[in-house]
Amino acid sequence: MNRQISLTVNDKKKEIRIDVRQSLLEVLREQLGLLSVKQGCAVGECGACTVLIDDVPIDACLYLAVWADGKSIRTVEGESRNDKLSRVQQAFVDEGAVQCGICTPGFVMAATSFVEKHHQQNISRHDIRRGLAGNLCRCTGYDTIVTAVQKCLDEDD
Ligand code: FES
Ligand code: FES
Repeated sequence: MNRQISLTVNDKKKEIRIDVRQSLLEVLREQLGLLSVKQGCAVGECGACTVLIDDVPIDACLYLAVWADGKSIRTVEGESRNDKLSRVQQAFVDEGAVQCGICTPGFVMAATSFVEKHHQQNISRHDIRRGLAGNLCRCTGYDTIVTAVQKCLDEDD
């Protein structure tokens, strides 16, 4: 069964027709061409598909596109402005936290939400690790990612 939905994606209104069985991940990638949204595990374990829905990080692989009707979606493509990286993106670059193309977009979106949510709070590295626990990288440690997030939070002070 198909349905028309309207949603806002990276500040742009979209009216699209979807199959109600499609995940938001499929629609963002295949219909809207937002290829930053990656499929890793496809079962809600890895966080590679993390997008912000009404500013809350969600695994797009587990979220039906039809549920996004009327909501606002943010992906990595919408985070830079006028060719300028967002401060989280810039902190990832500056701290060497950019990893592979599969896990990094999800980390950036989860980190963006974390920084926005914990603006001007006293947050430890342990808190940041817990906050990003839904995003996995099997290749390396998470230290530089935690440092990038810490840097953004410190800039808020
Ligand atoms: S692809 Fe969605 S959580 Fe892994
Ligand atoms: S999964 Fe991306 S660098 Fe490990």
